[in-house]
Amino acid sequence: MTPPPTETPTAVPGFRLWRGALSPHMQAEMVETVMRGLEDAPLYRPVTPGGRPLSVRMSNFGPLGWVSDRAGYRYQPTHPETGRPWPPIPTRLLDLWRATVDWPDPPDACLVNLYRDAAKMGLHQDRDEADLKAPVLSVSLGDTAMFRIAGADGRTSALKLESGDVCALTGPARMARHGVDRVLAGSSRLIPGGGRINLTLRRAR
Ligand code: SIN
Ligand code: FE2
Repeated sequence: MTPPPTETPTAVPGFRLWRGALSPHMQAEMVETVMRGLEDAPLYRPVTPGGRPLSVRMSNFGPLGWVSDRAGYRYQPTHPETGRPWPPIPTRLLDLWRATVDWPDPPDACLVNLYRDAAKMGLHQDRDEADLKAPVLSVSLGDTAMFRIAGADGRTSALKLESGDVCALTGPARMARHGVDRVLAGSSRLIPGGGRINLTLRRAR
């Protein structure tokens, strides 16, 4: 279903990118599925451990979800505001994981990020997972993001992530610092109400 990575756009071995992995039809279906899930697990605005609200709104699918609050960063089985378990990870995303990353176990956490207006994400490492060797798979939907990723020498490169693009942090890139400088508002009409949705699949435990 998914071809080998289309490009290695940065000097970051282990960073893999599949441009246009999801057709426009698959993107629309995925957005519908995600919106249905979000009815059950509404987006909310997390705060950093220091108490600052993130500009991104978040929710999760799967047995575990990534949360941030005054107590720190962690994975937990329930939505912090509703107290309910997160909805299941959509089957199509589990298929995508199998078709792309080379890992024996399925993801057990899917972070949903919604970027609207000036939302962005500072450079960070994904390091709250039990096994930091398990890959991270990321799906972009909606408006184009200016994504930034650092190589082992600390130098960063920027690339655009467009709707339907899929990328992965694997092997030596698993701990690469990465973030979203900004989102090009209005570059897509896919998301109801506008903006960008990023789905991040991980092995939390
Ligand atoms: C993240 O690192 O959690 C999100 C990256 C993205 O939105 O592309
Ligand atoms: Fe991340």
